[in-house]
Amino acid sequence: MAIRRICKYGEKILEKKTKKVNFDEVKKDLPALLADMYETMDLVAGAGLSANQVGLDMRLAIILIHRDGEPSLKITIINPELVERSGTLSAEEGCLSFPGLFAKVRRSAKVKVRALNEKGLPIEINAEGIFARALQHEMDHLDGVVFTDRLPLLSRLKLKPVLMRLKRRWKKMDETKLSPKRRALS
Ligand code: CO
Repeated sequence: MAIRRICKYGEKILEKKTKKVNFDEVKKDLPALLADMYETMDLVAGAGLSANQVGLDMRLAIILIHRDGEPSLKITIINPELVERSGTLSAEEGCLSFPGLFAKVRRSAKVKVRALNEKGLPIEINAEGIFARALQHEMDHLDGVVFTDRLPLLSRLKLKPVLMRLKRRWKKMDETKLSPKRRALS
């Protein structure tokens, strides 16, 4: 297993729609790739990570939801498609590609998603709460959309100079170089 560098805001791969995965073509390499993604997400205590966030043009993401400090839901979604949505809910969101930045994002309260799991089997997910939010956030990544794109125009305008400044700092951040001490703490 290996830690992978997480692409940050401003890196072009985050702005591009990812390619649909041909499961048979990738199944041999998938266990190692997913192990790397889970290890990387765990290192920085994330709740979700898309393949393009680690530099791969693939419609694939992982989600790990914690409840009371314990991992309670872990799921891999390949070629996910949103089939139903209902309600709206605003809540604070962050992103591993925007370290330390949080903003209130309006999303659907409930979603139904169809995807393949890590074994290539079709799954249907009915989600609400933080799980529904994580699914929408990750599926947005796979479409080249980041959470700040979802903010109202005025918030986006206010955030622009802040992002320009942070972008320079984020560019230099490399998760593969985090010290073991930092790893133990996260
Ligand atoms: Co994100």
